Amino acid sequence: MTATKLIHEKPSIWKRSRGWIRIGEDPTNLAELDKSCFKKAWREESFSKLMNYPWFRAWTWHAEATSKALAFLIIEDQSDLFSILRVGVMPEYQRKGIGREMMDFLIQLARNEQVPKILLEVHEFNLAAQHLYFASGFCQIHLKKGYYHDPPGNALVLTKAIS
Ligand SMILES: CC(C)(COP(=O)(O)OP(=O)(O)OC[C@H]1O[C@@H](n2cnc3c(N)ncnc32)[C@H](O)[C@@H]1OP(=O)(O)O)[C@@H](O)C(=O)NCCC(=O)NCCS
Repeated sequence: MTATKLIHEKPSIWKRSRGWIRIGEDPTNLAELDKSCFKKAWREESFSKLMNYPWFRAWTWHAEATSKALAFLIIEDQSDLFSILRVGVMPEYQRKGIGREMMDFLIQLARNEQVPKILLEVHEFNLAAQHLYFASGFCQIHLKKGYYHDPPGNALVLTKAIS
């Protein structure tokens, strides 16, 4: 590989304070994380299919000591907008700042790639996620009534402008 090519390649692994963030390329791994974090998990086949879409981007957070994946983040990359589809931290590792680190990572990535906005939907009852998003600087722009069915509820639409 030439030096020129190396300079222009985007990184696939980012060092964090207590671990690493990597591009998530393994559908089995993503499905396992999803199952630990969500009551209604996505199937492995769904991850395999999603990964074929050009807009699909995923990352996993790995502990430095064990290198085990403890968290994941999936977005739809629409070039002028990052839409968060899924973010989860394994239950026994929650409230340790990993979710915040994933959000900070995405915000920095949006800045680096000159993406002006990040968008997401969150269940009105999911207070932990709402706290994380508000703490990361998101604000509510819309309410989608009756958007969720299991459990039933409204969706808060949140956005963050990247400057
Ligand atoms: C939402 C989620 C990703 C947060 O990850 P996390 O690693 O626990 O979050 P952090 O430790 O980085 O917390 C960041 C901030 O979020 C808020 N927060 C996180 N969990 C919280 C909880 N259970 N209750 C209240 N606030 C919470 C706090 O403001 C926290 O900052 P603080 O600890 O300084 O007060 C995690 O709870 C999770 O995976 N939940 C299940 C899946 C899910 O609901 N995903 C989001 C919908 S797609």
